[in-house]
Amino acid sequence: FKEIHEELDFELKSNEELRTASGQLGISKDRLLGSLGQMAKYYFDGQGKAVRPVIAMTLGHAYNHHQCMNQEEKTETANRQRKVAIISEMIHTASLVHDDILDHAETRRGKLAVNQKWDATRSVLCGDYVLAIGAKVLAQLRNEEVLKVLAQVLADLVHGEFQQLQNKENETERFNLYLNKTFNKTASLIAYTCKANAILAKASPDLVEEAFKYGKNVGIAFQLVDDLLDFESSSQLLGKPAAADLKLGLATAPVLFASTEFPELETLIKRRFSQSRDVERAFEFVQKSKGLLQTRDLAKQHCDAAVQAIEPLVESPYKSALINLTDKVLIRQK
Ligand code: FPP
Ligand code: MG
Ligand code: MG
Repeated sequence: FKEIHEELDFELKSNEELRTASGQLGISKDRLLGSLGQMAKYYFDGQGKAVRPVIAMTLGHAYNHHQCMNQEEKTETANRQRKVAIISEMIHTASLVHDDILDHAETRRGKLAVNQKWDATRSVLCGDYVLAIGAKVLAQLRNEEVLKVLAQVLADLVHGEFQQLQNKENETERFNLYLNKTFNKTASLIAYTCKANAILAKASPDLVEEAFKYGKNVGIAFQLVDDLLDFESSSQLLGKPAAADLKLGLATAPVLFASTEFPELETLIKRRFSQSRDVERAFEFVQKSKGLLQTRDLAKQHCDAAVQAIEPLVESPYKSALINLTDKVLIRQK
């Protein structure tokens, strides 16, 4: 977070065009720069779990170890991988800023959501700004392959949000769309940052693919558990309201599984829980169904697939950490 703050500050102090713009808008430079800086740093407050950078760096270290680098090479590669880790948190945060505007979020991580503390217009710009600084950090890597891989994440995030707006008539199609959306919204960022760090470690194409598989499966498991916690955890623990997905009209894995047991849910899913008591009824159906258990089982399967993907790596404390991390994903409470 300290490094991200430095990147954001540096840009704010040095950008001549922004100073000119502040003159043209008639808003004092300090006020314009001050509030943008304050906003941009608002979610980088050390309260987030920083799961994405942790995964990217742990995988990077495990791969560097596997590649038998000398100490100098290891340090240099890890420094480059660190930039990918930083970018991953910046992309994630920018997407959360935009997401909170789209979802009219009240709170995030136990404090007012950015769009409540400021307004939607400034919040959109703040998300764009964090993304812009992330792009500058990415350019410092001067690596076309890594650039392509991380650009794909941005496209996937937008695609995922679009998919979330779609309805499907058929149960199987609905579940497939949900899984694909889950990849785009959550797993893509983790999968491609893992891939990027394997590329920076100069791993063989096969091993680069395994890094992608590790991230993809951990990412899908992470989101499945997130969707589970929306039903199982309290709003106090989550730092955001519980049952939020239903309130937004979204049918996630627990509801989709429950609907095979309780066909009454089908109508509620199709009308996106929009009528009076729909949210409460769906919540009750899920609680008495096997949906929560089935979601946990599916998350476990993805964790197993993640562990299998990194099997070819030589043993190291980092490889063990990657394996332990899959357990943490399953047992987390917030
Ligand atoms: C959180 O989901 C949202 C995301 C993971 C992705 C949001 C992506 C966009 C808004 C597209 C724009 C992307 C960029 C890079 C600016 P959620 O609403 O289900 O979760 P929540 O409960 O944490 O709000
Ligand atoms: Mg949201
Ligand atoms: Mg959302």
